[in-house]
Amino acid sequence: MANIVLVGAQWGDEGKGKIIDFLTEKSDYVVRFQGGSNAGHTVRVGAERFVLHQIPSGIIRNHIICVIANGVVLDPEELIHEIGNLKKRKIRVDGRLFVSDQAHVIMPYHKLFDRLAEQENEKRKIGTTQRGIGPCYADKAARLGIRVGDFLDIPVFKQRLKQVLDAKNKVLKFIYRHPTLSYTDILKRCLAYRKRLLGYTRNTPQLLHDAVHKRKRILLEGAQGTFLDVDHGTYPYVTSSNSSVGGAITGTGMGLRDVHKVIGVVKAYTTRVGEGPFPTEMEPAMLRKVRDWGEEFGATTGRPRRCGWFDAVLTRQAARVNGLDSIAVTKLDVLDNLKEIKICTTYKYHGRTLRDLPSHVEVLKQCRPVFRTVKGWHSSTSQITKFRDLPKLAQQYLRVLEKLVETPIEIVSVGSSRSQTIVL
Ligand code: IMP
Repeated sequence: MANIVLVGAQWGDEGKGKIIDFLTEKSDYVVRFQGGSNAGHTVRVGAERFVLHQIPSGIIRNHIICVIANGVVLDPEELIHEIGNLKKRKIRVDGRLFVSDQAHVIMPYHKLFDRLAEQENEKRKIGTTQRGIGPCYADKAARLGIRVGDFLDIPVFKQRLKQVLDAKNKVLKFIYRHPTLSYTDILKRCLAYRKRLLGYTRNTPQLLHDAVHKRKRILLEGAQGTFLDVDHGTYPYVTSSNSSVGGAITGTGMGLRDVHKVIGVVKAYTTRVGEGPFPTEMEPAMLRKVRDWGEEFGATTGRPRRCGWFDAVLTRQAARVNGLDSIAVTKLDVLDNLKEIKICTTYKYHGRTLRDLPSHVEVLKQCRPVFRTVKGWHSSTSQITKFRDLPKLAQQYLRVLEKLVETPIEIVSVGSSRSQTIVL
């Protein structure tokens, strides 16, 4: 198996960073294909902890080439900061990191519009990370975006910025009654970004085509999760990119046939950050325990995550949308102390049983989970390295998930370090 796409199969924060890090041992390239600095991938190497927002997790391993592909919305300020942090920790970045000239740039006004939109209407609030993601993708679709490649030619860039900023300032002034932004200030900031980022800029679809041609092993790293996907998620409580498998194709320029395997990452339970329906959300006492054990706080915003039981209706849908070949189950050890564990098998909607995820969020909001309760194993799994050595009840729990999701489990993670990984 050469090229793998790894996607989140829930609402993000499934622990993809750890699985990507594990898989990079057998990869040559790691590629981010969508999202932006809203993501936070945590990787632990020995006593060290790395949190990456835009740079692919592969950067930690010295042999990997990392690509930020065209589907990403790039925050230049954050990227410069991230590069600086890695360099301080003696990670080689130059010559190993390439940024697509077709990636759209998150401009200062995108962050401002993200904040203003969230403040404007409490009822319509999405609970975004306020990183400017939605406004940047909106401009991309409206053909008002600025791309990394636009930085190359300064006179052309100046003209483009002027046009776009004029349009943005009209909205700021007349819709939001907010002070307008200064062209000179933004231009100055952009010229500084240009200087720092030019050396990393490449035609990444071409770079990846060359890699495919040379039979390099490419790992495509999804951010967020399937149900935050703008097409397949719980719209409108979603992010603004395709975080399911389709984004890996449009977001890199690789062909469908160049992908050989799709792995979905799921937590042994479920979490969600921000607003939106969450049928299996736990009652407060249990939620607090699981949040504590699982350290369920956002890697980007520090917000406490909502916690719930494993939802097989949701993950079965993710298996289909992504065409999953296998799943990686993370954080099994977080459930070690429970006497009983619930698994949602179907939903009840006005007396009807639903086996499949409803397509409309208003229906989902009214769905009640139907749980199967299984016995907990009530012992520590965090030092176990083989499936057969797991407690029988933990093995049974995993087999139930596998059956309900209709997809084989390939990897089980029982802790944050590389060694705490079981391969089936
Ligand atoms: P945005 O991507 O900042 O526009 O946020 C839209 C929704 O996606 C909000 O509910 C966020 O909490 C959620 N979201 C965005 N990125 C992540 C992530 O990396 N993990 C979990 N949730 C996320």
